[in-house]
Amino acid sequence: TGRSLLDPFGRAITYLRVSVTDRCDFRCVYCMSEDMAFLPKRDLLTLEELDRICTAFVDRGVRKLRITGGEPLVRRDIMTLFGSLSRHLDSGALDELTVTTNGSQLARHAKDLAACGVRRINVSMDTLDADKFRAITRWGDLDKVLQGLDAAQNAGLKVKINAVALKGVNEGEIVHLLEWAHGRGMDLTLIEVMPLGEIDGQRIDQFLPLSLVRARLAEHYTLEELADRTGGPARYVRVKETGGRLGFITPMTHNFCESCNRVRLTCTGQLFMCLGQEDAADLRGPVRSSTSDELLERAIVDAIARKPKGHDFIIDRRHARPALSRHMSVTGG
Ligand code: GTP
Ligand code: 5AD
Ligand code: SF4
Repeated sequence: TGRSLLDPFGRAITYLRVSVTDRCDFRCVYCMSEDMAFLPKRDLLTLEELDRICTAFVDRGVRKLRITGGEPLVRRDIMTLFGSLSRHLDSGALDELTVTTNGSQLARHAKDLAACGVRRINVSMDTLDADKFRAITRWGDLDKVLQGLDAAQNAGLKVKINAVALKGVNEGEIVHLLEWAHGRGMDLTLIEVMPLGEIDGQRIDQFLPLSLVRARLAEHYTLEELADRTGGPARYVRVKETGGRLGFITPMTHNFCESCNRVRLTCTGQLFMCLGQEDAADLRGPVRSSTSDELLERAIVDAIARKPKGHDFIIDRRHARPALSRHMSVTGG
C-alpha cells in the first residue's frame, strides 16, 4: 500500500530497532573502550517522544520493534515505554515487541516484560566462564546474567543467546555454549565482530570468521539448513544432535544487506538507515516542533528514500582504524 515504507532498492522497511540509551553497565572489549564517553542526558528523547516516533513507524507498516541500547534495561522507567507500546500488539498492528539486553538487570524486569506482551528476548552472552566473562565485559557478573536468564524462562519468555565470536577468547568454547543453550531450550546465534567505534585494541585480533566456525561445527554436528527467518539478519540451522537452532550473523563473510528490512533510531532521535554508514536523519526536530505527526511522517519517508544499498565494512591489517567512529551502542547493533 502507499502507506508502507519502501526503500530505493525495493526493500520494505518493517523492522525498527530503537536504542533507548547509549549507556551500558558493561564495557565489552569489542564494543567500547574502557573510558567511553556517553551522551549528556539532556539530549535524550523522552519516553513519550520515543513512543510517538515508534507509533509513526507502526502506522507506516513496521511490524517488529526491538528495544536496544547500550543496555536498554538501565534506562529509568523503561517499562513505561514497553507498557505503552504494547497497545500496538493488542490492536494487531505489531507482530513483535522485543528487546536485546546484556541480561544484567533481567531478573527484576522479566515478569514485567512478559506482561507487556514480549514473547522472545535476545540476551548477549559471549562465554560461560565467569573469569572470561569479567574480562570481556571488563567487570560484568556472569551470575547476575544467569539469574536473569532463569527469571526470563520462568516468566515464559523465549530466550536467544547472542555471542560475538572472538578469536582466541571464546573460540574454543562455542561447542560448550551451543550444548548449554540448546540443553536449556534456548537458541544460540553467533555474530561476527564488526569494525564500529574505537576500542582499546585491534579488530583483526578479535575477528573470527564464522565460515570457519561453521566448518568446524559441521565436523561434529549435522547442521540442517532452515528456511525460516525471524525477520532479522541471522541465517539459521537446526543442529540435529541437540534439536536446537543455531544462527549465524555474518556481515563480514556473507553479506545479507540485500534482504535488509530495518532502520535504527538512536536515543537522541537520529535515524540511521544502515548500521554500516554515516548517514542519519534527524527525527527529534520534527517530533519536537509540532504535536501533529505530519512533519514527522514526512521526515521518515524522506529518510527511507536515502537508505543505502549496504555496508562496506573491512577488517584487515591495513584498516586498523574503524571505518565508522560511531559505536555499536549508539545504534544498538
Ligand atoms: P531476531 O529477531 O532474533 O532475528 O534478532 P536480530 O538478529 O534482528 O536482533 P539482535 O539484536 O539479536 O541482533 C544481533 C546482532 O546482529 C546485532 O547486534 C548486530 O550486531 C547484528 N545486526 C542486526 N541487524 C544488522 C544489520 O542490518 N546489519 C549488520 N551488519 N548487522 C546487523
Ligand atoms: N561487532 C559485532 N557485534 C557487536 N556487539 C557490540 N559491538 C559489536 C561489534 N563491534 C554486539 C553485542 C550484542 C549486540 C547488541 O551487538 O554483543 O550482542
Ligand atoms: Fe554494553 Fe552490549 Fe556494548 Fe557490552 S556489547 S558494552 S553489554 S552495549
